[in-house]
Amino acid sequence: MSGHLDELARSKGWTVTAEKTVRYDVILTGGLFDPESRVFLESSGTHTGGGIRRFIVIDRTVDELHGARIRAYLDHHEVRYKLLTLEVSEQNKTLELVSVIVRALDEYGIDRHEPIVAIGGGVLLDMVGVAAGLYRRGTRYVRVPTTLVGLIDAGIGAKTGINHDGYKNRLGAYHPPVAALLDRTFLATLDERHLANGMAEILKMALIRDRDLFDLLAEHAPLLVAERFQGRTPAGDRAACEVVRHAVGGMLDELAHNLWEHTLARPVDFGHSISPAIEMSALPELLHGEAVAIDMAVFVVIACRRGLVSPEDRDRILALIVDLGLPVEHPRLDRSLLRGALAETVRHRGGMARLPLPVGIGSVCFVDDVTESELMLAVKELRELGGEDAERAGGG
Ligand SMILES: NC(=O)c1ccc[n+]([C@@H]2O[C@H](COP(=O)([O-])OP(=O)(O)OC[C@H]3O[C@@H](n4cnc5c(N)ncnc54)[C@H](O)[C@@H]3O)[C@@H](O)[C@H]2O)c1
Repeated sequence: MSGHLDELARSKGWTVTAEKTVRYDVILTGGLFDPESRVFLESSGTHTGGGIRRFIVIDRTVDELHGARIRAYLDHHEVRYKLLTLEVSEQNKTLELVSVIVRALDEYGIDRHEPIVAIGGGVLLDMVGVAAGLYRRGTRYVRVPTTLVGLIDAGIGAKTGINHDGYKNRLGAYHPPVAALLDRTFLATLDERHLANGMAEILKMALIRDRDLFDLLAEHAPLLVAERFQGRTPAGDRAACEVVRHAVGGMLDELAHNLWEHTLARPVDFGHSISPAIEMSALPELLHGEAVAIDMAVFVVIACRRGLVSPEDRDRILALIVDLGLPVEHPRLDRSLLRGALAETVRHRGGMARLPLPVGIGSVCFVDDVTESELMLAVKELRELGGEDAERAGGG
């Protein structure tokens, strides 16, 4: 050791600096498991001499609905594979199920360079992501999202997570996949409630950065849901392509420059300030997107009260949330839940609330001074607005 380093080590210790380049492909594809498609084979990593092997974890419902064609595809291409079918839900998105995956990986004897493949909704993708991040300190994996939430959100970022001790996504890591393969045909079997659930995250993107996306949703949301994004009519096809392209592109644009979330004021956190507390307290009644919709409604009302959103835009936004089949409030929203939710948000965002508030439609600002009383006033206003709507409908 040189005299200089020696001296430094004695006085202060060392600093290690290393950089990690992240690169992954997010591929829009149709018919991923059509026999002629090679996207799955070519985008999921290296092929060793003995042909292609794949360890695939799949959501049980997806297996029941799509497993036959996935197996036929794998057989057609002579892939040697293990399908691990898991019954997953928000309640068992836990460490226990991650260890089930890890045990199966050991039994299979996955090669260091073979990617794990995850096929399912956000819950399965998040859980496989955690397993892949932990296994041998980090194993490659490919995401194939099968829900709308997966397609435009959970499937395309770097985050993984599982629930722990009653907290949502309390354990997890930033462990991006090597590829995300987005195939809308999976949505053909998704029920309306889960489509609406995904629409909540798309609406979030529209409100924080993309007014054109908001207009697309306002015009085409019922058609998109009716056609399940399958483009059964030319108008439906155009709308589905445009909405997915805007939503995925917008999300990646937001994520790419802050993949490790060093910047804690994140526009994409809109809808995710009080929603984790609402979702966890109302489990299993509320879906993630439904809790996000309530959170968005509360903060849109606050933004309107602060003069950041006009009453007309507030009403358009709330009407669209309702049109999408999403809730704008919940009986569990009380002072104590909101107090806890705010405190948890401050803890999560490095000691400051950094609450994204919409500014008109398509932009946000950040504030730290929202109090539980202001939140309660917004909830009260939402309940009154809901009551007026119900009265109008009743008086018809
Ligand atoms: N990592 C991230 O960045 C990120 C982002 C957003 C959400 N998430 C997580 O994603 C989860 C929500 O994901 P989700 O809404 O996809 O829920 P989910 O994974 O529970 O799927 C919803 C339901 O649809 C079923 N399903 C899946 N694909 C289907 C298909 N093609 N046809 C019919 N049914 C199908 C599932 O079995 C499940 O019952 C939450 O846990 C949330 O925390 C993670």
